[in-house]
Amino acid sequence: MILRTPRLVLREFTADDWAATHAYQQDPRYLRFYDRDGVTERQAQAIVYTFILWQGEQPRAKAQLAVTLADTGELIGNVGLRRDTADDPVADMGYELAPAHWGHGYATEAARAMIDLGFGEWGVERIHAHCVADNEASARVLRKAGLRQEACLRDHQWFKDQYWDVLIFGMTRADWSPSAEREGGG
Ligand SMILES: CC(C)(COP(=O)(O)OP(=O)(O)OC[C@H]1O[C@@H](n2cnc3c(N)ncnc32)[C@H](O)[C@@H]1OP(=O)(O)O)[C@@H](O)C(=O)NCCC(=O)NCCS
Repeated sequence: MILRTPRLVLREFTADDWAATHAYQQDPRYLRFYDRDGVTERQAQAIVYTFILWQGEQPRAKAQLAVTLADTGELIGNVGLRRDTADDPVADMGYELAPAHWGHGYATEAARAMIDLGFGEWGVERIHAHCVADNEASARVLRKAGLRQEACLRDHQWFKDQYWDVLIFGMTRADWSPSAEREGGG
């Protein structure tokens, strides 16, 4: 699977992508809203291996794609759409980018492509996502991509010595118009 957006190529992971993934997953800015202090090289390899295993599912229920810059091919993060089974009408979305590439709209661009995949080729009826309420950049990405906040789960997670509220966002087929249509073609 390969998805192209104006500035990005979302492509399948390959085994040697673990190093670029591991590099940014150590960054304290990246880790701020996660319940861990980093990942080992072996853990990064295992994460990438899981994404590669998902590629071989028949029929395919999950896609976690490498986010790469169309101009240079540099891997800058990943974005995923996951269903429990391939006939599940509900998909969960997630994304992450290397901090060096934040603030350019790339996460929103990648999320919109996955939403188009979900409601388009996959035919799901609902896409949802969650984020820590303090993760304002992530909440903003979800809103810009067309999801609506549906709930706030108060004190839902405990990590880094504090409780965190978690926001639930959702979007149904009725909320969706394909990106190309919204942007006037292309
Ligand atoms: C969440 C994440 C992917 C956003 O990436 P990004 O490329 O900066 O996202 P975008 O540029 O598409 O959009 C970010 C939006 O949030 C806004 N934003 C960024 N930091 C913010 C903050 N602290 N408070 C409020 N808004 C903020 C930006 O201004 C932008 O909105 P705008 O286009 O209206 O100006 C990135 O911060 C990340 O990888 N974080 C670590 C991993 C993570 O948290 N993943 C999500 C788990 S739920």
